[in-house]
Amino acid sequence: MAEYSWDHSLDTVDFEELSQLYRIAPLGNKPPEELEVVFGNSRFFCFVRDGGALVGAGRALADGRDCAYIADVAVHPSHQGRGLGSDIVRGLVELARGHKKIILYASPGTEAFYEELGFLRMNTAMAIWNDPDRAVRSGLLGRSPR
Ligand SMILES: CC(C)(COP(=O)(O)OP(=O)(O)OC[C@H]1O[C@@H](n2cnc3c(N)ncnc32)[C@H](O)[C@@H]1OP(=O)(O)O)[C@@H](O)C(=O)NCCC(=O)NCCS
Repeated sequence: MAEYSWDHSLDTVDFEELSQLYRIAPLGNKPPEELEVVFGNSRFFCFVRDGGALVGAGRALADGRDCAYIADVAVHPSHQGRGLGSDIVRGLVELARGHKKIILYASPGTEAFYEELGFLRMNTAMAIWNDPDRAVRSGLLGRSPR
């Protein structure tokens, strides 16, 4: 059985390896240089390693009082189903404890995973996406009938 180590700092992160993890998970194509910016501007992190290999990750943006936003949660397929994803989210929620709201958007199909962890659906969540048509096609966004 794997011996996992947990890390909440950015210091030892290899962004090339992180990008690879998101490709494999899969959570999409996230170039290393983009990850360096978004993780660099985030407040809380969670990285899980099996030996030296990165097998899980997540981050949260937070303003320190009102709102924290959890993003980029993923686990390597060989390590999924062992509780790592839940523990990453729980860890980020714990780090963001004290914020009035902790929000995220679930990839379509993962809503039940977040509901198990205590998240409720946001009835009035609205978003401006850089490619709204694609987000509508993937089920992330919806347009109200006119
Ligand atoms: C979603 C993800 C992070 C879950 O990680 P994981 O380590 O496999 O999850 P866990 O082992 O902690 O699973 C906890 C529970 O959630 C359930 N679960 C896991 N993935 C799920 C999913 N996609 N949809 C619904 N339930 C899910 C598990 O069956 C488990 O239930 P159980 O406790 O009754 O057995 C992982 O599957 C993943 O990386 N997926 C691809 C990337 C992704 O979609 N990330 C989420 C972005 S919003």
